Amino acid sequence: MWLNVTSMKMIILGAGNIGLVTALCFAEKGHEVYCVDNNQSKVNNLNLGVSSIYEPGLEPLLKKHLSEKRIHFTTELSEFIEQSDVVVVAVGTPNSPSGEIDLQHVNAAVSQIASLSTKPKTVILRSTVPPGTNQSLSLKFPKINFISSPEFLREGSAVHDGLHPERLIVGSNKTEHLKLFQEMYQNFEITPSQIIQMDPASAELSKYAANIFLATRISLINEFSRICEKTGANIQQIKKAIGMDSRIGSEFLNAGIGYGGSCFPKDIDALISFAASLSEKLNIVQATKETNKSQVCIFAEKIKVRFKDSASKNLALWGASFKPETDDLREAPSLKLISFLCSAGFNLNIYDPKATTALSELFKNNSQIKISTTAQLAVTKADALVIVTEWSEFGSFDMTQLKSSLKNSIVFDGRNQLDPQKMKQLGFEYYSVGRPS
Ligand code: UGA
Repeated sequence: MWLNVTSMKMIILGAGNIGLVTALCFAEKGHEVYCVDNNQSKVNNLNLGVSSIYEPGLEPLLKKHLSEKRIHFTTELSEFIEQSDVVVVAVGTPNSPSGEIDLQHVNAAVSQIASLSTKPKTVILRSTVPPGTNQSLSLKFPKINFISSPEFLREGSAVHDGLHPERLIVGSNKTEHLKLFQEMYQNFEITPSQIIQMDPASAELSKYAANIFLATRISLINEFSRICEKTGANIQQIKKAIGMDSRIGSEFLNAGIGYGGSCFPKDIDALISFAASLSEKLNIVQATKETNKSQVCIFAEKIKVRFKDSASKNLALWGASFKPETDDLREAPSLKLISFLCSAGFNLNIYDPKATTALSELFKNNSQIKISTTAQLAVTKADALVIVTEWSEFGSFDMTQLKSSLKNSIVFDGRNQLDPQKMKQLGFEYYSVGRPS
């Protein structure tokens, strides 16, 4: 039964990273939300207040809105569809092995909505889909009003991003859909100019454009870091110099071992494949991908070269998730690095603040890998430390203690997290990315 409140009644289809955060943010802003997922055990756990993903601020919101009965998790769409004001589709859009986007979950979700609704429905497409998807679904399901509204939530700060959106895209040519968004977001601190209406295809393509621009910045700064390493220039200074140019800006200019995660690599492959279907070759996007692929290998090679004459090859690895504040290992550069180092004969002792369970499961049959439960345990008696993901606890770790824990005072910093000057003063042999050693 729906609560008798003046808020909107919303259904979110999909309780993954995006669906779950979206559902909780709408609940937090006063709507009554039913989040539907076909994974029964995930739904059972969520109804008990247990989330399958780590995301800062998520569990407190989950517990709060379960106890206030503002959010409900279910596998049954049929019970609630008729009374809902709006349905948000936030199911996964994985790529096929050839990189093509696979819309089977979106298609199944929309077919289900259509078959269960007796009245016209408004459906917001939040899943990342190629341009033209809205149009083809509209032709196939004429009783559904589709709005394309891609999300811009970053893992690790998704709850914050969901509660404080920088902009909202209303991909629809109907003015009543802009009004619907104004109503849906009336309790969010957002000004009318932050709600942008545009045609559905532009909305769909905007999502790819945002992610691929960001990924390209990362690959570009990583290419500059390679030149820095060969010329003695310092990538941090380059970042400062260009970041102060308001046309460029300072965000997403951190050199490192490359980007990962469930979004950038997938969206790049999907766009390359989509463009190929239009007989377009995306040279810059392809180059972004290639540079990212080789970035982690260049870093791994430095470690291999440094240890080529060593009999003892025991490394501590700090961080494995694709970025800090998440337990997500999807497309994490750590996985490529680990595989490279294992093939080169290293033994690894890995610590990640949130990914311990996933790492233990992943590497349970690998005798070269040990998973530690603290940063200290991982470095004790290791020959060197490798920083893979810049969790804040690594930046505040006592470096004198680190020095006495390691067998050799060698640190490879893949995220430029530590200060090279301080490391030098403390007597470390310190390698980072694009900064003089
Ligand atoms: C990305 C976008 O930033 C979100 O706006 C978007 O909504 C999301 O994808 C999505 O499509 O759902 P996310 O993948 O969670 O978010 O994480 P980012 O913060 O974008 O980081 C991606 C990768 O780039 C990470 O591996 C990170 O370490 C790396 N990165 C980021 C760098 O190597 N250098 C930087 O300067 C910034």
